[in-house]
Amino acid sequence: MPYTFAKSQELFRRAQNSIAAGVNSGIRKMEAPVPLYFARGSGPNLWDVDGNHYLDFQLGQGALLYGHAPAGMAEAIGAQAKLGTHWAAQCELEIEVAERLQKMIPSAELVRFNNSATEVVLAAFRLARAHTGRKLILRFEGHYHGWADEGLVGFANPVASWGDDENPARTHPSKGVIPEVLDQFVVARWNDVEHLRRRVEQFRGQIAAIVFEPVLCNTCCLEPVAGLMATIRELCDRDGMLMISDETITGFRFGAACAQGYYGYKPDLTILGKAIGGGTPFAALAGTKAAMAKILSGEVVHAGTLNANPLCLAASKWCLDEVLALGSVHPSQSQELGRSLMAGLVALAHEYGVPLRPQGPGLIFHAVILKPGVGEGAIRDYRDYVRRHDAPRWAHLRRCLLEEGVRAIERGLWSISLVHTRSDIDEALGRATTAFRRHAATWLAAA
Ligand SMILES: Cc1ncc(COP(=O)(O)O)c(C=O)c1O
Repeated sequence: MPYTFAKSQELFRRAQNSIAAGVNSGIRKMEAPVPLYFARGSGPNLWDVDGNHYLDFQLGQGALLYGHAPAGMAEAIGAQAKLGTHWAAQCELEIEVAERLQKMIPSAELVRFNNSATEVVLAAFRLARAHTGRKLILRFEGHYHGWADEGLVGFANPVASWGDDENPARTHPSKGVIPEVLDQFVVARWNDVEHLRRRVEQFRGQIAAIVFEPVLCNTCCLEPVAGLMATIRELCDRDGMLMISDETITGFRFGAACAQGYYGYKPDLTILGKAIGGGTPFAALAGTKAAMAKILSGEVVHAGTLNANPLCLAASKWCLDEVLALGSVHPSQSQELGRSLMAGLVALAHEYGVPLRPQGPGLIFHAVILKPGVGEGAIRDYRDYVRRHDAPRWAHLRRCLLEEGVRAIERGLWSISLVHTRSDIDEALGRATTAFRRHAATWLAAA
């Protein structure tokens, strides 16, 4: 029998009276049939308040690279909590975490800590502007850099205001934003090297930095095309711009040296979030000494009461040690599991006539469902994705999967943790079989 969610529904109704719109992050409202309330998690397993058990590929929006409630992390946080939860001052732990980052990521010559990647993005942009004395940040359509005014310009432009292919628009999805913020950005399309060159040429001498998700995890999990990272590096070196790699999702998921190690490039600044804290509110700005100079000189303000909070540091030290201990097993192990999950989903899609084309490297991937008549071939960029991905159909399939106990991110992203095993993948595919059968039987009637 498909799962039911009576207790979550009841709690969500109750929450409307005290929590604005019932959730504490807008995106959580997307979960259908109701935003779920969870009771506990363990490894790749998650239980909601109705007692439903899930194999989790949502993983706290990717933060839980080490699975739910790892015992070692709980011990590390517990031990630190007995010594102190917050000092707003220095402790040796912060040096230990910083030294691990230096060891793992060659471009991390110096670091600074924050509590969310959104904050780190703001620090990186401020630093880049101070470093270069220029105003503009070049960013790509469909890339998400946090929810602040500056993180969302051109993130998910509505079709009606895309602008032409050469000049993507600078729209903002939120009301209440200072309009001038839009003027601080140049938006380019992802994965088109020649277009990027033209865009930089158009604003040459005015751009402080190029920022990007190395794998466009927030839109369709699009890996960089050959030569893109080298081109960004070349343009940044040529014009004195900073290369900012937003590794909030890819950090440590793609190995100890993150996506920059996996794809072989060296940015000036790196944004780290999610897996660096394994589910605690922890994030870091890492960079070369040259790029961090204005923080050293004190010309750029970077602050925060809870920065380098000892509970988060204890968790982070444990997380980084886990990654270091895996050595070369990581990311190949999760890559292999992810690819077999993708292959299993493709086989089910074929069997039940669902035009599902999972896309991405494997350890993380996106469940694309093609609209009727849009043609085959991999999705290339944000515009291609909006034109060809059948979002309502994915939402229906996602709900069927959820009701059989397989949980992926609402928008279609699946992540593999370090604790998923072959039998978890097999079990997920077994449950998915029922979900695909139900989806195939009801989608056309429901659509
Ligand atoms: C690539 C990227 N950058 C920045 C952020 C913002 O991170 P946070 O939600 O921790 O502020 C996110 C969040 O999903 C992200 O995916």
